Amino acid sequence: MGRKYLALAGALCIVAVTAGGCKSSEEETVKNIKIGVTLYDQYDTFLSEMMTEFTEYAADKEEESKVTINLEILDASKSQLTQNEQVKSLIEKGCNVVCVNLVDRTEPTTITDLAENNNVPIIFFNRELVAEDLERWKDLYYVGADASESGTLEGELAADAFKENAAMDKNSDGICQYVVLEGEAGHQDSIVRTEYSVNTMVEKGVETEKLGYAIANWNRAQAQTKTAAMLTQFNGKIELIIANNDDMALGAIDALKASQIPKEEWPGVVGIDGTDAGLDAVRNEEMLGTVYNDKEGQAQEMLNLAFAIATNGTKENIPLIDGKYVRTPYHKVTQDNIEDYENKQGAVD
Ligand code: BGC
Repeated sequence: MGRKYLALAGALCIVAVTAGGCKSSEEETVKNIKIGVTLYDQYDTFLSEMMTEFTEYAADKEEESKVTINLEILDASKSQLTQNEQVKSLIEKGCNVVCVNLVDRTEPTTITDLAENNNVPIIFFNRELVAEDLERWKDLYYVGADASESGTLEGELAADAFKENAAMDKNSDGICQYVVLEGEAGHQDSIVRTEYSVNTMVEKGVETEKLGYAIANWNRAQAQTKTAAMLTQFNGKIELIIANNDDMALGAIDALKASQIPKEEWPGVVGIDGTDAGLDAVRNEEMLGTVYNDKEGQAQEMLNLAFAIATNGTKENIPLIDGKYVRTPYHKVTQDNIEDYENKQGAVD
């Protein structure tokens, strides 16, 4: 086939793509793509585990598609200004799409303006911006999960444990005295998980009494310090510790281990995420249960979406809601089904 003919075929194809057809030929012409990622904090356990999966899926996709995928993953070190600069530089370096784990989910404007002005789509993930901000431009997407679902499932785990295990009600008053370890103030998962977990316990017929709460910013060490203080303050009264994520649940367990309280008298501890260490704690019966935040599913959907965007490919197989959102379901994890999750198989019913 002569050069001229090829060029014409390409031109025809582009016209057809605009009209909604000829996608496979168009995809074939893309041999090389560049995907940028910026994380709010690379030391966040859930996100670092999710990124390991993302990198692995990218390698698999490269193998399967024969398209070279250049990944550049940056750490914004909890600074929105740094992250804005990173997105600018990723766009300048020619990224076809940038995946953004916002530092401040209320401050996406600089990034969405950069995206629109340079015509580079953005996939926000894990830290959800408000719906109006996602509507600001057509090529803005969000990959994550439904915060209320995780809170509901955590509340179910706690309610079932309290109802099934009389010893949890240490003072035998029929009321569950609890404390909450909250993630960052302002994060959708802190606000919503806290509210839904407790409301669900009440809906499931457990009377509750909140003794206190502490903000531990998703962080294990902070949760340990704050739990130690609450153990002293509420001296033997805490029956349940509801943590907004596994790392904070593990911090609470660290504090319990360091205390004089014998294990059989520990309050129940529930978490969310199903991180490697979180699953170990469920396995060791240190945690009553956790709620699996499907990092494999989120990593895979984000990679598939980024790939489709960067190759001008079809988004047909991507479970987009309203053309913008991908949300993976959460799952309860207890002693009864822990094996399914220990194998890192991803979403399992
Ligand atoms: C996870 C937390 C994580 C946070 C970071 C949440 O969805 O459950 O473990 O620290 O996202 O944004």
